[in-house]
Amino acid sequence: MSQHASHMTTTVPRRAVVTGDAGFIGSHLAQALVQAGAVVVGVDRRDPATDPTAAANLAALQRLPGYMHVTADLLNCAIEPLLVDANAVFHLAGIPGVRPSWGPKFSEYVASNVLATHRVMDAVTRMGVPRLVVASSSSVYGPTEGGPSVETDRPQPASPYAVTKLAEEQLCLAHSAQAHCPTSVVALRYFTVYGPRQRPDMFTHRALTAALTGQSLRLYGDGHQRRDFTYIDDAVAATIAAATIPTASGVINVGGGSSASLLEVINIANSLSGREIQVHQENPRSGDVLTTRADPGRAHEVLGWQPQVDLHNGMRAHMQALAAETAAYGRAA
Ligand code: NAD
Ligand code: UGA
Repeated sequence: MSQHASHMTTTVPRRAVVTGDAGFIGSHLAQALVQAGAVVVGVDRRDPATDPTAAANLAALQRLPGYMHVTADLLNCAIEPLLVDANAVFHLAGIPGVRPSWGPKFSEYVASNVLATHRVMDAVTRMGVPRLVVASSSSVYGPTEGGPSVETDRPQPASPYAVTKLAEEQLCLAHSAQAHCPTSVVALRYFTVYGPRQRPDMFTHRALTAALTGQSLRLYGDGHQRRDFTYIDDAVAATIAAATIPTASGVINVGGGSSASLLEVINIANSLSGREIQVHQENPRSGDVLTTRADPGRAHEVLGWQPQVDLHNGMRAHMQALAAETAAYGRAA
């Protein structure tokens, strides 16, 4: 969890499993859960002993009592033993990223986002875990007219990645709708999450890194594309609420309420760093939609959630974390 303490993280499942805990969102979620008193088993195929990103993401967590990391691939590991006595499973493991999903990596997307999810859902059901929260994506909406996307809108995924995320959420919901299924499912459609430890392929990370280092920034398109940027602590607060509110179920948007264009993100990065980013414009990438924007109504109504951190403050915290990492790296080199 970063420096913006959340207002909503007080009630947590007693015992939780977080898949994808060595990743960006999963590591923050696991940390928030443990800090609020939960016992957490994290499972991820990245091994912190050999993978520097996993090690960095898990560094703070591994010092906390009440947390255990298991390195395992959900495609073939025994999942049920990890779920003993779990009150909730947070399924965040998956292959993210829109643009690489067109290429030969698509089979990995299918394997981790669909087939591994099927194994997780099967195990959760068999073990009688009462709640599964699954990470879906704003990308399932596809191209919009620019207005806010409501959960009842017809999904029109515009990339192979988005197709797998739609399959993932619907697979879990279909299992859950079966008679006698003991597990209720909440599928959270996260909208472009940013903050400390964000994946380095994502735009906010790249813009802030360019601002800090003077490296140039590749801009795919004219920069007028807009995202409903969601700060990591807000995403974590919504995720915990999705596990703990008994009546929650179905699909829920998690959008940060900071609709901004990429050009606006660049301007904020410039003003925070005092350095003008050098931008190299390239062609737009396939599968990228022009605008994502969440209708926040259901999240507010069902989870009592609304985002607390605006883009300027969130980017400041993100930049401070990147600056600290860069300094630490410089000292170690
Ligand atoms: P991330 O890549 O940082 O974390 C995902 C983790 O899942 C990685 O550590 C990876 O090793 C692990 N994983 C993948 N396949 C696995 C497998 N078969 N077995 C075990 N572990 C496996 O990604 P993130 O940005 O933290 O995203 C987390 C989830 O949220 C993903 O499902 C992603 O699709 C979804 N999501 C993210 C965003 C965002 O803005 N970051 C937005 C919408 C949805
Ligand atoms: C992000 C995550 O990467 C997905 O995993 C997630 O599912 C999705 O959010 C979501 O909201 O559901 P995306 O919105 O594409 O996807 O976020 P970025 O990767 O940060 O890209 C945002 C925009 O910046 C895109 O238009 C992209 O083309 C552009 N971009 C990205 C650049 O111009 N240059 C870069 O170097 C990187």
